[in-house]
Amino acid sequence: MLFKTNYKNLNSSWIKKIYLGETPNGKDLSDHLHIIHNRYTGFTEEIAKTCCDLNGKNSYELLLDTVNPSSHRDILDLACGSGFLLELCKKRFSSKHRLFGVDMNDNELKLARIRFPKNDINFYKANAQDLSFMKDSSKDVIFCHWALTLMDPVVTVLKTIKRLLKKQGVFSAIVDGDLNSAEGYLEIHNIIYQYVQKKIPNYGLLELGDPRVRSLKSLNKLIKKIFSNSEIIITPHILSCRQKPSILANQVAGFFYASLILSSKHYAILVSKLTDYYTKNSTDGLSEFNLPVNRLVVKKT
Ligand SMILES: C[S@@+](CC[C@H](N)C(=O)[O-])C[C@H]1O[C@@H](n2cnc3c(N)ncnc32)[C@H](O)[C@@H]1O
Repeated sequence: MLFKTNYKNLNSSWIKKIYLGETPNGKDLSDHLHIIHNRYTGFTEEIAKTCCDLNGKNSYELLLDTVNPSSHRDILDLACGSGFLLELCKKRFSSKHRLFGVDMNDNELKLARIRFPKNDINFYKANAQDLSFMKDSSKDVIFCHWALTLMDPVVTVLKTIKRLLKKQGVFSAIVDGDLNSAEGYLEIHNIIYQYVQKKIPNYGLLELGDPRVRSLKSLNKLIKKIFSNSEIIITPHILSCRQKPSILANQVAGFFYASLILSSKHYAILVSKLTDYYTKNSTDGLSEFNLPVNRLVVKKT
């Protein structure tokens, strides 16, 4: 993602509190996410769709694999963003399947709606914490791709998902994996965070969302508490992509929420640092980005 716009450092209430060493609340988080998604609408899919596991599957496809097309009909993508996953659902499943998308951000939903000119997907602008307009036991599948990590309070979201799922329904999510589990990922993370910390020294001490979602162990404990008597499987996956160093540096910088708070000028400096790193670590002119993720699958019994 090449940013030509002349943005200043992002100044949300969440950032202000982090800067002052205070603890942001859910409203600060929501304000922060809205500003980022209004600036960089659709940024997640840019790299997520190109990073694949050894079987050639990206993280969206890892979620699709958890659907049983013959018994599951109603599929909700929670925090659907620009609608890439729903587009894959439409390609893979038949017209019998009913697709729904929820997101809190208008600009993301605008991009998502453009993908479906026939208007055959039900989109809702809503917070995942408040889906009271959706009926109990009305969904066979609930997806949440790269968004559960951003949600706080997350327990309200998980209880809502449990309420909406039918019996034998499936909740499948992609969340951040262990920083140490993918080769080179921690180094990239550190280049980005160390640079951002020069602008906002406390950045990273507190992360976006509920920290329990970010580790396999604490996520498992949290999910077990809410979805007691359900089958819970969390599996780590490594997703990789190869590109020319300068292209990869742009793609990777554009994937981290931390980089997206920088001014255009500082963002360009960060991209050049990443380009240097990837140039040093390239073979035959190509470099690799390895992304660790956890796939959570909950089968409601
Ligand atoms: C990293 S993007 C992922 C978008 C999409 N799922 C994808 O992977 O392409 C996170 C999305 O979650 C949405 N989001 C974050 N918190 C939310 C909440 N509490 N309720 C609804 N949407 C939320 C944001 O607006 C954004 O579109």
